[in-house]
Amino acid sequence: AVERTPLIAGNWKMNLDHLQAVAFVQKLHWTLKDAKHEDGSVEVAVFPPFTDIRTVQTLLDADKIPFSLGAQDLSTQDSGAYTGEISGAFLSKLDCGYVIIGHSERRQYHGETDEIVAAKVQAALKHGLTPVICVGETLEQREESGPTAVSVAQLEVALASVPADAEIVVAYEPVWAIGTGQVASPEQAQEVCAALREVIASKLGDEAAARTRVLYGGSVKAANIASFMREPDVDGALVGGASLVVDEFAAIVRYQK
Ligand code: G3P
Repeated sequence: AVERTPLIAGNWKMNLDHLQAVAFVQKLHWTLKDAKHEDGSVEVAVFPPFTDIRTVQTLLDADKIPFSLGAQDLSTQDSGAYTGEISGAFLSKLDCGYVIIGHSERRQYHGETDEIVAAKVQAALKHGLTPVICVGETLEQREESGPTAVSVAQLEVALASVPADAEIVVAYEPVWAIGTGQVASPEQAQEVCAALREVIASKLGDEAAARTRVLYGGSVKAANIASFMREPDVDGALVGGASLVVDEFAAIVRYQK
C-alpha cells in the first residue's frame, strides 16, 4: 500500500499580520521541537495572508524551520491588468509549495464558481504549486442531496483538465462545520473523503488516488484530531481557528492515533 504522509495545515485566513506571524512561527517551531514533523513523518504547513508570505518564507529559510508554506488563493491569470490579484508565478518565486483553492469562504463571499476553481487549479499547476482543492456542502445541501453529492460534483469539475501525474491535495470542509464548533463525526468525514478518493481514481487513475492526500477541515481541535486520523481515507486536517493558537496547533500536530 502507498504510504501517504499526513498533512496538518493551518489556514490562518485573515489573521496575523507579518509581525505577528514572525512571533507565531518562531513560537510554534519551539513548541514543536522534537515533534514528528522533524523526521518527516508528518508534514506541517502554514497558509498566511499574502502580505506575510515573504516574511514567513525568510524566517523558515533562515532558521531552517521544517514547515511547508502556502497561500490562501491565487489569480487565474499569470500577469497583467488584474488589479488586486496575485499570480501563481509570484507565489512560486516566494517558495510557496501550496495554494488553497475554492475555500467555501471564497465561494461564498467572492462568487467563486466551480469553473473559476478549475481555472485556478490549472494556474497553480502551471506555476508548480500544489493546489489544496476545497470542497464541501452546506447543511441545506446535505439535507437535500445527501452527504457526498455536492463535494463529488465540485471535485469532478475541479479535476476536469488535471493530468494524472499532477500533485494535488483535496480538502473536505463541510460548510456547516467551519468555525462553528459543530464538528463532523469521523464517520461522516470518512464517508465523504472516501467518495472524493473515488473521484480522484475515476478522473486521474488508481495510482493518483492511492498517493493523493485527502484532508478533513471544520472545527478540528487537539481533542478530536486523532479520531479523524484513525479513518482510512482521512490523511490530515485543514485547520482554521485552532491553527492560530500555538499550543493547540502544536497538540494537533502531535496527535497520537
Ligand atoms: O480552512 C480551514 C477551515 O475553513 C476550518 O476552519 O475554524 O472550523 O477550523 P475552523
